[in-house]
Amino acid sequence: MAEEKRKVKIKIEKLRKAFGEVVAVKDIDLDIYEGDFLTLLGPSGCGKTTTLRAISGLEEATDGKIYINDKLVFSKKDELIVAPSKRNVGLIFQSYALWPHMTVEANIAFGLKIKKLPKNEIDKRVKNILADVHLEGYGKRYPSELSGGQQQRVAIARMLINRPQIFLMDEPLSNLDARLRIEMRSELIQLHNRTGATTIYVTHDQEEAMTLSTRICVMNEGVIRQIASPEEIYGRPADMFVAGFISNPQMNFFKGIVEQKGAKTVIKAGGFSVEVPKDIVGNRNEVVFAVRPEDFVIDPKGTSYNIKTRLPAGSFQIAMANNGDEKDIALMFDGEEDITTGEVIKLVIKKDKFHIFDKKTEKRLN
Ligand SMILES: Nc1ncnc2c1ncn2[C@@H]1O[C@H](COP(=O)(O)OP(=O)(O)O)[C@@H](O)[C@H]1O
Ligand SMILES: [Mg+2]
Repeated sequence: MAEEKRKVKIKIEKLRKAFGEVVAVKDIDLDIYEGDFLTLLGPSGCGKTTTLRAISGLEEATDGKIYINDKLVFSKKDELIVAPSKRNVGLIFQSYALWPHMTVEANIAFGLKIKKLPKNEIDKRVKNILADVHLEGYGKRYPSELSGGQQQRVAIARMLINRPQIFLMDEPLSNLDARLRIEMRSELIQLHNRTGATTIYVTHDQEEAMTLSTRICVMNEGVIRQIASPEEIYGRPADMFVAGFISNPQMNFFKGIVEQKGAKTVIKAGGFSVEVPKDIVGNRNEVVFAVRPEDFVIDPKGTSYNIKTRLPAGSFQIAMANNGDEKDIALMFDGEEDITTGEVIKLVIKKDKFHIFDKKTEKRLN
């Protein structure tokens, strides 16, 4: 794979972090390539922040190794811990943590003053960085005189001024309103394109991860479930957890009954019937069959479903539908599709847009 030819910028081996009884990170292995925008994605409490803090050096892991630029920066076995300031990483958190009594300029310049850079060099760099984050003319203001988005840009500027090779960001946009969040996503992509800095980005927001990342690392309960491109994670989720987590609204999981019809192997699920290669299902009689809400189309030759509720959202609409099974399914259509509550529609699954999982291991089969 092309990815494996790229330089590994950060290497994590068997990283473990326990807080007393709670094991937040369970022996994870992870390679982050140069220029990656890698997102740690998963539900609250799955160990994203702990992993990021261990990489930054703010948290001492319980076991394992971390290399940055081929240099060992943490090894429990060797009792080696390189200080955060020596790891060449820049950090941004959800809370901007700006100093309220300092102007924007002073906030940004702070790190360079500590390094005792000459004043004219500091002024020049601050001016350039302010332009980079679209805050020209705001240097003399105080944080309280800025919007949330502007404050977050100051935090980004403060990170950039130290010219780190690696950016570590922990839910940096989650305090912003929806519209600003989208604007800032675009700015983060531009920032990444401009600097090429290897970035690790933490979020619980699947849409944000899909938008920003070159690769996504899906975590649950301290374990990595899948590491892949956004397209792969969406198109071929490795297990039922990833499939369910990367879905909005919910993934539809059906009980899939495997039937042999002559030479053909067929899965029957939710009133649908699809032919699959025999080797996918092996000798299983039952599998989990899953279809995304957006992967159904209305077709007169399809399976009948009764529309129970309809949730219009302008450009798209979501409907809950039922065909007599105990569970409703979620459907997502274009906003202009003519659907009414109480109506019976006929559905087919888009070609090959289904996922098959082993019932017990929950791992992907197709
Ligand atoms: N300082 C701490 N002391 C005790 N438990 C902690 C501490 N930090 C995190 N945890 C626990 O570790 C687990 C992972 O937390 P965290 O890495 O913050 O998750 P995430 O960022 O994915 O929401 C959680 O169960 C959390 O309660
Ligand atoms: Mg967190």
